[in-house]
Amino acid sequence: MNNTKPTAGKPVQITIDGKTYECPSFSGTENEKAFDIGKLRDQSGYVTFDNGYANSSPTTSSVTYLDGDNGILRYRGYPIEQLAEHASFIEVAWLLIYGELPTQNQLNQFHADLEANSVVDEKFIKLMDAFPKNAHPMAVLTAATVGLSTVYQNECDPGNKEHTEKSIRRLIGQFPSLCAAAYRHNHGDKLVPGKKGVDYCENFMHLMYSKDGSYTVPKEIVKALNLLLILHADHEQNCSTSTVRLVGSSSANLYASIAAGITALWGPLHGGANQAVMEMLEHIQKDGGDIEKTIAAAKDKNSNFRLMGFGHRVYKNFDPRAKLIKKACDNVLTSLGVKNPLLDLAKKLEEAALKDPYFVEKKLYPNVDFYSGIIYSALNIPTEMFTPMFALGRLPGWIAQWKEMVDGGTTKIGRPRQIYTGYTARNFKPVSERG
Ligand code: SDX
Repeated sequence: MNNTKPTAGKPVQITIDGKTYECPSFSGTENEKAFDIGKLRDQSGYVTFDNGYANSSPTTSSVTYLDGDNGILRYRGYPIEQLAEHASFIEVAWLLIYGELPTQNQLNQFHADLEANSVVDEKFIKLMDAFPKNAHPMAVLTAATVGLSTVYQNECDPGNKEHTEKSIRRLIGQFPSLCAAAYRHNHGDKLVPGKKGVDYCENFMHLMYSKDGSYTVPKEIVKALNLLLILHADHEQNCSTSTVRLVGSSSANLYASIAAGITALWGPLHGGANQAVMEMLEHIQKDGGDIEKTIAAAKDKNSNFRLMGFGHRVYKNFDPRAKLIKKACDNVLTSLGVKNPLLDLAKKLEEAALKDPYFVEKKLYPNVDFYSGIIYSALNIPTEMFTPMFALGRLPGWIAQWKEMVDGGTTKIGRPRQIYTGYTARNFKPVSERG
């Protein structure tokens, strides 16, 4: 069953300063439990405190299920391993957004809609000329995504379902061009028209690298890209998705909400980690490839070095996506006849870390970002484009989560409280009396 109402449980009792308060409790379809503190502050004067929202849930959702202890990831109930094996990225995009795998007709129509909405307005794309030649593509992508709303600003009303359906197709249809345009701008190339009648991922590689339309994409690359984008497509309430929901909760339009998600994803603790992993591996390689020295630095409380691509807020076991990407690394590099010494280095690092008590006790395993850059490199995708690739994959998940919130109609504007620890009241001092 999809999108069921939570199951009510026994009220939870909280005793504060000798008084007992009851909070309603409920559970979801995978028996995750929560209690609702919506009335706690009014009744007791207390708010809860949860640094990084590690133990708080702002919403129910039926899009994606994670079990971090057992390394389980499912989109709308389908195990990620099955989707990675059998589905295309656009099939998974439909599944996440509309809740079911598409019929052949729905899939054909979606492909046709995306293709019909894939051309970026030629006046708008001139925006790229405003950026310096070494602009980080994530900054360009953020500006271009929110800017795209100006091309369609009479059809952005989040309360209008027709506007939302059009925005979904315009965003997913044009995002490959925006990503490719950001890359080509930095290399002095103009955007080329997309290739009609081909797979979404094939068209993306064509947009990235085609010079005169003669560029052909090996099928191994199309397959690898579909896998990578599927594995990045959604991940419940991660930092960037929570950002998309928070921005959307103010009734900001879908373009603005997605642009906010792109900025959150850029951080090296989140989606920016894939670029940081590659830079870390290259640095270790240049520095002599000393695994022990690297592991020691990652454990050293006085160094701010972290083993990028390791650790996760939810997965306290293997990230199932990392397992699939690691396996794909060997397959893709072999099929493309590519050798990358950084893959061997990454495997040695993983082996050393998984034997080290620091990583074992803190349950730090490779996450989705640890091996993904190795494959992107094999596909000739440059390091600065790794995080835009993550955004390209995550776009349907952000859209699905935003749409679930808007369609649900019950979300209040996100507005957390705080505990103030600043000055208590004091009087203004004229500058003549200040020290
Ligand atoms: C993504 O949330 C998602 O779902 C995200 C994502 C998605 O699909 O949307 O899965 C994508 O963002 C994956 C994560 C990519 N980031 C990295 O690879 C950056 C490196 N990892 C860390 O910075 C860290 O593990 C986080 C940010 C991923 C998680 O941080 P938490 O949950 O806040 O954990 P923490 O920073 O409090 O760490 C707990 C302990 C600390 O030690 P103590 O203070 O308890 O002694 O573990 C240590 C940390 O110092 N630690 C690490 C480490 N990660 C955590 N030590 C060394 N190397 C690391 N990578």
